Amino acid sequence: DTPFIVAIDGPAGSGKSSVSKAVARQLGYGYLDTGAAYRALAWHVLNTGADTADADAVRAAASDFDLRLGLDPDDRTVRVGEHDVTEEIREPRVSSAVSGVARVPEVRAAVNELFRDMVARASQPAVVVEGRDITTVVAPDAPVRILLTAAPEVRAARRANELVGENAAAVAAALHKRDASDSTVVDFLTAAPGVEVVDSTDLDFAQTIDAVLTVIAQRQ
Ligand code: C5P
Repeated sequence: DTPFIVAIDGPAGSGKSSVSKAVARQLGYGYLDTGAAYRALAWHVLNTGADTADADAVRAAASDFDLRLGLDPDDRTVRVGEHDVTEEIREPRVSSAVSGVARVPEVRAAVNELFRDMVARASQPAVVVEGRDITTVVAPDAPVRILLTAAPEVRAARRANELVGENAAAVAAALHKRDASDSTVVDFLTAAPGVEVVDSTDLDFAQTIDAVLTVIAQRQ
């Protein structure tokens, strides 16, 4: 049996990752952070010394991408081959490079196959799959599809809180730049038909989790 999929999309700083992880943990579901996979790929491209803005170089580097990413919400370790890149993929140099890598269509197609494969082989009965195009491209037939949004200034503030020591204005600027670049590739700011919007602008973490759990319960 293919696992039940809970697809969650949203922009950076929407709370998507922490909420998806918490929901998966609470329900005993698997958790797939597709952003982490794109970040690992960007790390890999940078590691080969290729220019992440050069689509041909990105395609070449992506052809030997050995991603090791599990579905356990309590183990967020990400490896590329033998390299543990869990921490490095969150560095600003990777955040700045990831959009360029993620905009190459053949790369997206290959990565999407990887995601579908990982979900199909999951040991859990269900998987929360989180990203930008899960509700529309990766799993458009998922029984639960959610777009998690929040006002831009709230997203920037949340992201600045996560990155202790970083300049808040710089964080906000980098986040908006990445969103602007990403949204030319996939639309993750408007909900596709049948996708439930959860706006977390005025919700705290626990309330956002509850809102998502409510949608899951309704759609099951
Ligand atoms: O979710 P996160 O912010 O970690 O995602 C990192 C980047 O990966 C995004 O900025 C985007 O460029 C890319 N991404 C994507 N499609 C997804 C998930 C992430 O293009 N489904």
